[in-house]
Amino acid sequence: MSQNREQWGSKLGFILAASGSAVGIGNIWKYPHMAGQNGGAAFTLVYLACILVVGLSIVIAEFVIGRKTQLSPVGAFEQLAPSTNWKWVGFLGVASAFVILSFYGVVGGWVLKYVIVSITGGFNELAGDPDAAGKVFNTFITDTWSPIIYQVFFMAFCVWVIVNGVKGGIEKWSKIMMPLIVVLLAVLAVRGMTLPGGMKGISFLFNPRFEDLTANSIVLALGHSFFTVSLGMGTMITYGSYLNRKQNLLNSAVWVIALDTAIAMLAGIAIFTTVFALGANPAEGPGLIFVVLPSVFSQLAGGTLWGTMFFVLLFMAALTSAISILEVVTAYFIDQKGWSRKKATIQFGAVITVVGVFCSLSMGGGVNITEFLGMTFFDVMDYLSAKYMLPIGGMLTAIFILRKWGIPNFMAELKIGMEDTNISSGLVQIVLTIAAAVVAFIIFNEVYAEIFGKALIG
Ligand code: PHE
Repeated sequence: MSQNREQWGSKLGFILAASGSAVGIGNIWKYPHMAGQNGGAAFTLVYLACILVVGLSIVIAEFVIGRKTQLSPVGAFEQLAPSTNWKWVGFLGVASAFVILSFYGVVGGWVLKYVIVSITGGFNELAGDPDAAGKVFNTFITDTWSPIIYQVFFMAFCVWVIVNGVKGGIEKWSKIMMPLIVVLLAVLAVRGMTLPGGMKGISFLFNPRFEDLTANSIVLALGHSFFTVSLGMGTMITYGSYLNRKQNLLNSAVWVIALDTAIAMLAGIAIFTTVFALGANPAEGPGLIFVVLPSVFSQLAGGTLWGTMFFVLLFMAALTSAISILEVVTAYFIDQKGWSRKKATIQFGAVITVVGVFCSLSMGGGVNITEFLGMTFFDVMDYLSAKYMLPIGGMLTAIFILRKWGIPNFMAELKIGMEDTNISSGLVQIVLTIAAAVVAFIIFNEVYAEIFGKALIG
């Protein structure tokens, strides 16, 4: 363990940074449109079940591994299982960081653009006209240069926060941004619910339509439960590695999951109440945020304010998540290669930005692989990471604890900081086994459906 490893400044700071990682574009952009297209509450139920059974246990597992080793994923697995292949689970995490941040940075750039457009009153001319809003969005994302410029600015913000360190950068900004996100979203949700007809949005979100739930939507819900809590790629191992031994890890994990879920629900409420009140199409898909919302916000009194609030909070959520992804890569180069924080962050921030440029160009600005892969490079990166890399990384982490590191060692670390809570190792073993089995089954179900054309479930 390194003597002068950086540490979080406070317990609250750690919880806010970890939930800042969890709460992101996944909660506010992905979840509402996925639920809208995959059976509303039916999707939400599968996703919540996955979060409770799989998510919670893997957050705890990652925190424990990180705090025990005081290292980021590759070093952590290597320390607990020297000279074995387990370190590859750590490398899978670093690889996932590249894959995720490449498209995440592009969406972060879109959000930044929309912050500026909304502040300058640019949504006004789109009032009640989703077609016009759709054209504006499409023209923007299929342009060659302008989305790249915004993406570069977004990535530069991330790099700047991380270069300032764990406490002086990541923790400081999470402490400012997380409370603001909650307040702004709560105001927007109340605004939506008090609009005439807004309550129809609530029933859309909370009414299950099981006929829309396919094997694909189940694996999406599982993948999303990993994505939204930032699991399966060592983000929580890395953040856990900056902890001292006073934190109650179970408690912290429950906070992170609860905040993440509450914010996804609040976002769903804010968005669907507004969309329904103004008679727009809720199942719009990825365009829900960038196309439908600009045209509906501007129909409300004070529309510029509502629109700006929304995109500013989305920007902050995206930023606190993106920094946690880049931190996994930075920490790898600091821990394993002895690089300085500044050098690691700037160099790999730049490399990931370049990969992201291809995601951006695949939207229509110049790179076209849709013909032979059936989807854009952007979607390939999104699907690959969320549907497979994260769940597999999470499953292997659970298997690692069960089969290699051992429940007794795991329990010994978990119990530090939670002396007054009783938790039996039998229970932990059962929960981790179920988590690994559920992930294995859902991935099998999806692959089976791909091969045989019909799923076992869904
Ligand atoms: N949890 C983030 C979100 O919901 C995304 C993320 C995934 C962050 C994996 C870190 C690691 O947007």
